[in-house]
Amino acid sequence: MNKITGAVYLLALMITYAAPVSARETVQSPDGHIRFSVWSERGAPRYRVEFRGREVVGESPLGLVFRDAPALDGGLELVSAERVSRDRQWQQPWGERREVRDHHNELLVEFAAGAEDARAFRLRVRVFDDGLGFRYELPLAADQARAITRELTGFQLDNQAAAWWVPAAEWNRYEYTYRATAVGEVGRAHTPFTVRLDDGTHLAIHEAALLDYSGMYLQQGRWGMMHARLAPGADGVAVHKRGAFHTPWRTIQVSQQAAGLVMSDLILNLNEPNKLGDVSWVEPGKYIGIWWGMHIGRYTWGSGRRHGATTARTLEYMDFAAEHGFDGVLVEGWNTGWDGDWLANGAVFSFTRAYRDFDIKRVTDYGRQRGVRLVGHHETSGHLGNYEAQMEGAFALYGELGVSQVKTGYVADAGELVRFDTQGIERREWHYGQYAVNHFIRVLETAARHRIAINSHEPVKDTGLRRTYPNWLTREGARGQEYNAWATPPNAVDHMATLVFTRMLAGPMDFTPGIVDLMPHGADAESRIPTTLARQLAAYVVLYSPVHMAADLPDNYRQRPEAFRFIKQVPTDWEQSLALAGEVGDFAVLARRERDGERWFIGAVSDESARQLKLTLDFLEPGCDYRLQWWGDAEDAHWRERPYAMTVAERRVRSGDPLSLFLAPGGGYAAVLTPIRNAHSSRSP
Ligand code: NOJ
Ligand code: CA
Repeated sequence: MNKITGAVYLLALMITYAAPVSARETVQSPDGHIRFSVWSERGAPRYRVEFRGREVVGESPLGLVFRDAPALDGGLELVSAERVSRDRQWQQPWGERREVRDHHNELLVEFAAGAEDARAFRLRVRVFDDGLGFRYELPLAADQARAITRELTGFQLDNQAAAWWVPAAEWNRYEYTYRATAVGEVGRAHTPFTVRLDDGTHLAIHEAALLDYSGMYLQQGRWGMMHARLAPGADGVAVHKRGAFHTPWRTIQVSQQAAGLVMSDLILNLNEPNKLGDVSWVEPGKYIGIWWGMHIGRYTWGSGRRHGATTARTLEYMDFAAEHGFDGVLVEGWNTGWDGDWLANGAVFSFTRAYRDFDIKRVTDYGRQRGVRLVGHHETSGHLGNYEAQMEGAFALYGELGVSQVKTGYVADAGELVRFDTQGIERREWHYGQYAVNHFIRVLETAARHRIAINSHEPVKDTGLRRTYPNWLTREGARGQEYNAWATPPNAVDHMATLVFTRMLAGPMDFTPGIVDLMPHGADAESRIPTTLARQLAAYVVLYSPVHMAADLPDNYRQRPEAFRFIKQVPTDWEQSLALAGEVGDFAVLARRERDGERWFIGAVSDESARQLKLTLDFLEPGCDYRLQWWGDAEDAHWRERPYAMTVAERRVRSGDPLSLFLAPGGGYAAVLTPIRNAHSSRSP
């Protein structure tokens, strides 16, 4: 902001107190394409959004409702407006790209019924080229409390627009197959909630920086009005607050194409910078684990003859990891509490006591000598009370043993997390309610004190908090590979092509790709992997996560050395990521350049349709030759009939060359591009 405009804004602010500056305030994205307007409609706060001159979110309500205080829903006028523009760059310690640009115009408006109105609140709006966020800010005194029962925010969408979503407020948390319906047919939906308008404009509604608040989902009103809903706490109140506070950002990503959504850094930009300081101990990487064996029924989590987590097996896995360059071995089922119905017995888990056939000291010592870490595991079965009571000791133990990553789990039906209140009375909470939101942060902070990073399963959704807490490495929060082991039906054939434009907009996912025995229960079993082999490889590039698992059994990798060759070399930390092409639920093509290196990787996934895609390698360094090695579907490949039919080949390419790639039904494509340095000099005069 230069001095002259600064003075103008100051003047506007002063005039505001005498009479509203203008009945309607607007703020645009730096490129001028997105326009957010806010006003009072006969006392009720309202907003709308336009993109390239077209209304994409129609007139929609704003406001909050409290249990013991007047609602912010009427009798309110716009009384002031301030503006500021920012253009700054920041770096991710790990991520899908190193450099992130935060370029936005901000509008801060105040609504009140008069100069002294106790209901006065502010709406802070930030508009970027890739979307916008707004949040409510309430200037309460330190001893003032609010019990929020509802948030009135709405998103007026075109009733006919196409939407991709998973149900919210149902028994499962987020692990549903995606529904593709018209907006008008949506019930209650989680975010990211992705929408395509008839002119091809894509929107995704989500939230950023979900801290000390309840998660937002959307509920259909009439004619395409999606109402914000907040998961209630055990006392029926959604959010308890004391003193001045602000809500998470309500976000709307906007793009002319589906691929544009994938390129957006909006969610990260609306989070606060790293507050952990030095996080060099948070390390991206790849791990294997004693895991798939339990999901396909070969081993058990509980003790007995088929116990998976034995010392001997862990040492074998560590040898395998060391031999093939993996830095971690996850071991599930090592601690007591799994016997019987572990899904129902969350109260009996110990997070420090190992089963007799698992020597935790021995395996961590062994791993240290081989440069392989034990990846820790805490399954809580949703019993937050039991876990919180043991958490400090549990992370201290792992910390002492040099375990620097822990996978956590919260397998319990949604709304059934157990905690004890201050009177010791048992209460039930949602995975996305305020109590759980705060629990996940307590886990991160406790883990950080022991220099441990977290991979949470059955988590609250991602809202970009990895920026503030870089030890929140990854999470599940959608249907992952595990469903292909035991669910009927398993994941949909178009699942990955949908995830890219929905769940993945929130942040990294521990999908656990890389299953190479695609029919663990035989060809006729309903539970099987609904992809070709090539697509299991593509997933490493297409679905971003700073830690990825090579999820299959070591023996299966020994049987498929060609596929394993790709899994071994694909990185999980990137300098740059590009969404090259895609349509929601149909296909997606991504290219990523490794961190601290020059290789590019390409991943592509399809739905049930075969496709021939034509791309241009215009992202490569000009004038440099590259060796392109690819793992693609053979012409006759098909996820059901011929899933292993894969072509592995290579050729020489350079920047600007066309690249034509084939995706079979349920198929995929994975490639690595390695610069050939001497080629450059040999071609130079
Ligand atoms: C569900 C998790 O998603 C899965 O990865 C894990 O193996 C089981 N819970 C047991 O903790
Ligand atoms: Ca799960």
